[in-house]
Amino acid sequence: MVGLGVVLNFIGCKSQNETKNKTQNVSKMEIIKENFGTTTEGVTVDLYTLKNNNGMIVKITNYGGIVTSLLVPDKNGNMDDVTLGFDNLQAYLDGHPYFGCIVGRYGNRIAKGKFELDGVEYKLATNNDENHLHGGEIGFDKKIWDAEPVENEEGVGLKLHYVSEDMEEGYPGNLDVTVTYMLTDENELKINYEATINKPCPINLTWHGYFNLTGGKEKILNHEMEINADKYVVVDETLIPTGELRDLIGSEMDFTSPKTIGSRFDKVPGGYDHTYVINKSSSEIDLVARVYEPTSGRVMEVYSTEPSVQFYTGNFLDGSLTGKNEIVYEKQVGFCLETQHFPDSPNQPSFPSTILKPGEKYSQTTIYKFSTK
Ligand code: BGC
Repeated sequence: MVGLGVVLNFIGCKSQNETKNKTQNVSKMEIIKENFGTTTEGVTVDLYTLKNNNGMIVKITNYGGIVTSLLVPDKNGNMDDVTLGFDNLQAYLDGHPYFGCIVGRYGNRIAKGKFELDGVEYKLATNNDENHLHGGEIGFDKKIWDAEPVENEEGVGLKLHYVSEDMEEGYPGNLDVTVTYMLTDENELKINYEATINKPCPINLTWHGYFNLTGGKEKILNHEMEINADKYVVVDETLIPTGELRDLIGSEMDFTSPKTIGSRFDKVPGGYDHTYVINKSSSEIDLVARVYEPTSGRVMEVYSTEPSVQFYTGNFLDGSLTGKNEIVYEKQVGFCLETQHFPDSPNQPSFPSTILKPGEKYSQTTIYKFSTK
């Protein structure tokens, strides 16, 4: 049970024009830290509530770096929680399909849980039938991260830090990871990932938020989706890439112009769970997707430095979990847009490399920007 919070920051910064027009423009940004409970091993976990000047709220726990809530205004200014998750730690400890967490060391699948690097074969957990998924048995989604509140000209945030030791989950090298969530006054949730290592290792970090822009009032099938991708990664029946990047224009995979998620669902057996190859421009950060939900008027735009996005429509949700606000998590109650490298890159020589080497710096940035129309 969450106790009474401690306000860590109440940032009274004033606008540049304030002296000129003499308006009272006191910042409403804040960060509140609360106890979120204790793990089975007896470690205390916290919940941080970040609020921006528009009243948008993001709640993040340092257990798995999980975003537990994302309160966003609709076209009439009403706030709803647009992300799936729970309001208590125990529900996360009991097991869940990666709701709102940081995924690492490697997001998505590695075939048969193995890869070869510099002549050495590394064996990983096969935690998804015969394949390795989302970093293994105890991935970054189940680690306790060091947390430090942040405030800067962009907004309020939470900086999370974790050191993954050599051979943790079978991966080589000591990996030092920092993930910073910022909530800006542009109503953006901005996630910045940085990492360094002392031995080469495949690294593919992502964030596994599930969205429902109706706030869970309806399924996601009427959300209008646009994905900035002309190709997708073809996979076999175990969801491992065949190596082919296929043109999708005109097919049921095509979201280059807005289409409802449900419009061609009958043609996609099991629902969408595909890696879209982002049409990259010369800029560092590109539009990945734009989603519009007509009843609430909410719009979410995703921008990222990453070469692809996993569009997943919650196909494996089966109604066995009940989340916040008593919403039963059935199929198509939430969708994910996980920005990342292609699945199984360590075994696919034609895919962009995911190997982080000593002396290099891993970095990725993804922005989820909310507005209404
Ligand atoms: C994957 C799905 C997987 C899900 C687990 C997604 O990133 O694409 O195949 O079932 O994560 O929650």
